[in-house]
Amino acid sequence: MNLKIAPSILSANFLNLENEIRKIEKAGADIIHLDVMDGHFVPNLTFGPELVNQIKKITNLPLDVHLMISNPKFFIPKFIEAGADFISFHIETDSEYEKLLSEIQQTKIKAGIAINPETDIRSIKKILNFVNFILIMTVHPGFGGQKFISECVHKIRKVCEFRDKKNIEIEVDGGINFQTAKIAKDAGANILVAGNFIFKQKNYSKVIKGLRDV
Ligand code: DX5
Ligand code: ZN
Repeated sequence: MNLKIAPSILSANFLNLENEIRKIEKAGADIIHLDVMDGHFVPNLTFGPELVNQIKKITNLPLDVHLMISNPKFFIPKFIEAGADFISFHIETDSEYEKLLSEIQQTKIKAGIAINPETDIRSIKKILNFVNFILIMTVHPGFGGQKFISECVHKIRKVCEFRDKKNIEIEVDGGINFQTAKIAKDAGANILVAGNFIFKQKNYSKVIKGLRDV
């Protein structure tokens, strides 16, 4: 699978968001990663379906909504309606996974499960038949700009092993730079999220291309 780069707008300039999105489009981003936080599942707050809906109107790039929220069941229909192309929620929420994943897939949206650094990767085995992708967190969710936790890399290899011949994508999120991108790619990831590493640079093209070619 080709490596896809998904800039996380969490680190973008929100006062100039439309321009930031134009810049990452031009720079060759494959996907836009949107971090939704509720101040309960994680100790931070971001935005809801309304912003996703507005972004949908100004870009054709696929929108990847990462729900770091305690009550995905309530919000999934709202993000479907807002125009998400990928939706993931966390295994730690103890939700009715099968039901929610199939609700997402019925609308042709890719459905994923995200997993925190401290959660055992074996917990995803029970839902592998129902997902399109697994999102492996390589930082503690809540903030951009944190350091990549190398202890999570074995989980990428484990998902490759568990998925057998199933067509399941592996997304890695947190602390991605050229060095950690290479580690994640070599372990089997095919979608890399990067926030701080992209948006803190002047030349987004150079960094996105560099990440894709690690
Ligand atoms: C963290 C978010 C990430 C974050 C990644 O809770 O899920 O998507 O924006 O940011 P960086 O690349 O700065 O670690
Ligand atoms: Zn994320």
